[in-house]
Amino acid sequence: MQQLLSMEHLTTDEIYHLIQQACNYKARNINSPQYSKHFVANLFFENSTRTKSSFIVAEQKLGLNLVDFETTTSSVQKGESLYDTCKTLESIGVDLLVIRHFQNAYYEELNNINIPIINAGDGSGQHPTQSLLDLMTVYESFDSFKGLNVVICGDIKNSRVARSNYYSLRALGANVMFSSPDSWKDDTLEAPYVDIDDVIEEVDIVMLLRVQHERHNNDEVLSFESNDYHKLYGLTIERYNRLKQQAIVMHPAPVNRGVEIDSSLVEAPKSRIFQQMQNGMYLRMAVIDAVLQTKGEQ
Ligand code: CP
Repeated sequence: MQQLLSMEHLTTDEIYHLIQQACNYKARNINSPQYSKHFVANLFFENSTRTKSSFIVAEQKLGLNLVDFETTTSSVQKGESLYDTCKTLESIGVDLLVIRHFQNAYYEELNNINIPIINAGDGSGQHPTQSLLDLMTVYESFDSFKGLNVVICGDIKNSRVARSNYYSLRALGANVMFSSPDSWKDDTLEAPYVDIDDVIEEVDIVMLLRVQHERHNNDEVLSFESNDYHKLYGLTIERYNRLKQQAIVMHPAPVNRGVEIDSSLVEAPKSRIFQQMQNGMYLRMAVIDAVLQTKGEQ
């Protein structure tokens, strides 16, 4: 795997390999510092807690040297472009870039960058490492993806997590449905829209999405209050109690408690929310290892 920009670029064999490798790291839970001669820079142009922190831990467990980079103190503030920033880091000797950027498909302007890029989220485009850690979490619960019924709920149109998981879960044989207010539907994705109350007793996975206020334009701002959103589209205690015994609840987080999910359910037995975060670190170790192994072979 030369780099990781979008889930559409991965084969199912590559996905299974990354999940297996992440499970191996998790089972051993040891540092594996084979990349102590490599340098990595994490370029986060949007805020992050989980993704950035878990990349940093993963990088340090693999022995990588971290190049300090913050948009607020870098020459981005002097107007330097994303391309020039990346080319500068490549010239200095950085071996790997992890990039989160507000622009959809920002990586299309980075074709002349000759070091690998791992996409840590591009606008409302894709979030491939989130999708992979979600798949790892599903795999831990079900050992398979084929035939699983998944309902992805909420802000579909603005969610890079929804888009990434739509592609990857369908490629792996799961049945994906969406449940969403009209203004947050995405007609470019072909999954059926359902009423959550019609499917809650049949689904294996309820995948909740954060309401992404920062991406909404005036047309997309809902006319109802958070409390109404919770009643109409969120995971209420009543809906949770109707889930199948083996069903699981996921959310990429950060969670708007009481909006997408009742606060008391965030750590309920069926919730995998903190397991997703734990898996993210191991999964990111697997992705970094796969990319740097390929780089070493070239
Ligand atoms: N799930 C996720 O991407 O969280 P952060 O924005 O905190 O990285």
